[in-house]
Amino acid sequence: MEIHRYEKIWLAGALLLIVGFIATVSYGAVGAGIAMVDDEGGQVDPASLDDHPRFGEPGTYQSGENEYDVYVVARQFLFEPGTSEPIRVPAHSTVTFHVTSPDVIHGFEIVGTNANTMAIPGQVATITVEFGEPTEYGLLCNEYCGSAHHAMEGKIEVVP
Ligand code: CUA
Repeated sequence: MEIHRYEKIWLAGALLLIVGFIATVSYGAVGAGIAMVDDEGGQVDPASLDDHPRFGEPGTYQSGENEYDVYVVARQFLFEPGTSEPIRVPAHSTVTFHVTSPDVIHGFEIVGTNANTMAIPGQVATITVEFGEPTEYGLLCNEYCGSAHHAMEGKIEVVP
């Protein structure tokens, strides 16, 4: 049964490719000094973010010895925090970003890494990232969100 053997080879090749893709997605950011390790979310009322215990006061909150939660509001046309002042996180920490929007869909991308999510009104996008050495990362909105979309950017400072 020659055909059967070829099928096996192709199947093995396809499986290898799939494993390769997953590995690329999982570890693509390691070279940049960070790794995305989790991606989940929740719900929030976009009309009353100001009353939210975290989104009302967005920023970095310590949650464990070396763990932090960063709450970010993406709005037309800035990240809060991130744009007028950088998001600051300690080096060698595990950071979970919680990102939402009060207006339209935005993007939240840590430039040069695979840490990337959409900020959707009513939804909390949650991504967890492991930071390495002190450095800086750019932040970009990669979803078209209006006239100043191209100018919607920010900064993350990984501090010693
Ligand atoms: Cu916000 Cu594009």
